[in-house]
Amino acid sequence: MKQGLFITFEGPDGSGKTTVSRYVYETLLKLGYPVLYTREPGGIDIAEQIRHIILDPKNTAMDVKTEALLYAASRRQHFVEKIKPALLENKIVLCDRFVDSSLAYQGIARGIGFDEVLSINEFAIEGHFPDMTLYLEVDAQKGLSRIERRVFLDRLDQEALSFHEKVVDGYKTVMEHFKHRVVRINADQDVISVQQDALEEVLKKVKEYV
Ligand code: TMP
Repeated sequence: MKQGLFITFEGPDGSGKTTVSRYVYETLLKLGYPVLYTREPGGIDIAEQIRHIILDPKNTAMDVKTEALLYAASRRQHFVEKIKPALLENKIVLCDRFVDSSLAYQGIARGIGFDEVLSINEFAIEGHFPDMTLYLEVDAQKGLSRIERRVFLDRLDQEALSFHEKVVDGYKTVMEHFKHRVVRINADQDVISVQQDALEEVLKKVKEYV
């Protein structure tokens, strides 16, 4: 029997994923569900250290395949150390970004190839794809206008609009490929509405599961 429920949140930079996923987490917690919140890249010490290397704006020399491998390495450690144990304890795991980010950003936007990036990630996660993925849909320009106000922009945030447009195109391909587990959320609305739409979808899934 499958254990736990694994839900991921995906979207381009500035889609509101983090605010929305944290809201869903706080609500499930208040309702008394056994839920764990985590994020990528990061989530545990070793993966946070790798995150620092990947996103450091100084690392302009980083090769795109090195970047893809570092994301996959941090995912592997995060998966074995945090996600898998929580699923084995029958928890609901909410994760801000997972394998679909690598497929959209590294596979398609960086041009490495969907299949190539999928294969290094399959090695890392051993077939443990999410049960459900909420895709927060917003166009690249709108997403970027939301992050412009941030004090710190990481190495990927600092990429040109054309890169972020490729990310949005990349997500279209990825979400179509995995449509059996993807739910699209219109993220081009006020944050309260996005939170409500996301919560409604997650609660539907959680109720099927418990
Ligand atoms: P965050 O802003 O959601 O914390 O993510 C940091 C950046 O890392 C963001 O620009 C997306 C990027 N990213 C990838 O390119 N590939 C990945 O596999 C992940 C998890 C994130």
